[in-house]
Amino acid sequence: MNQVTTIPLHGLFGAEIAGADAADPAAARVFVDAVGKWGLVLIRDVGFDDAGLARFAARFGPLQNMSGRTDARRDVIHVGNLGDDGRMKAADDANRIRHDANLLWHMDSSFLTPGATYSFLHGHIIPAEGGDTEFFDARVAWEALDADRQGELAGLTADHSMLHSWRLVGVEMPDVSRAKMPPTARKLVRRHPPSGRGALIIPSHVEQVEGLDYDQSQALVGELMAVAAAPERIYRHRWREGDLLIWDNRCILHRATPYRAFEEPRDLSSCRVLDLEDDGLAACA
Ligand code: OGA
Ligand code: MN
Repeated sequence: MNQVTTIPLHGLFGAEIAGADAADPAAARVFVDAVGKWGLVLIRDVGFDDAGLARFAARFGPLQNMSGRTDARRDVIHVGNLGDDGRMKAADDANRIRHDANLLWHMDSSFLTPGATYSFLHGHIIPAEGGDTEFFDARVAWEALDADRQGELAGLTADHSMLHSWRLVGVEMPDVSRAKMPPTARKLVRRHPPSGRGALIIPSHVEQVEGLDYDQSQALVGELMAVAAAPERIYRHRWREGDLLIWDNRCILHRATPYRAFEEPRDLSSCRVLDLEDDGLAACA
């Protein structure tokens, strides 16, 4: 194997790994270890098709079914504004509107049980302007709070629901009932298993915090988000074609940023690894 180089993306988390071939199964350990250490990993100049991305991601663990399909295409979906025919989707396309929820700070699949450990996002068509993805580290956010505030938050439980994030961006889903998508309860503070550090679990999917009403819950998330997503804690990724980003949803929050979605195409492939040891309700002791 070539010399592997690690280039930090931000002073607080994230690194680019260069010199290891993502297509080489023997290099898998390098990437798995790097995500464990850095939370967010960038590999440049990867040319995976959907099957290649699924093969790579499966080295991290069992894949989440992203599409509801049962065939070979079940594990990888495409994010952006292109339809299956490769043409730009209509402005009123339901999937496209739903993706507005990606503009909110979130952790992928926190509203599901089990959730997802790792997410993979691979850039294929990148708009000339905008469409960056932003990240912050929920462990850094937790450590930014003083000990008294940490003590008040540590035992709290919150309900996570995708329906809530859709509602925040103005999308009601009358065809998806709460019975079909029941909320998932998680501790507001989680011990991140690989690093042992506490992490503040405050994605947009958080609907209600135990003991608080809806408005109080949202005010609490807002207060914590102002600390967590302070500008100096954010890494903003400007995509290049061929980029592959991998992050750990147990400690990293992310959000999409706007682009000229009616004028320019954007296409990324995406898949996720299931968190089979999901301990969302374990106390952060
Ligand atoms: C996602 C997501 C961000 C982006 O697909 O889960 O958050 O920039 N995407 O498209
Ligand atoms: Mn996401």
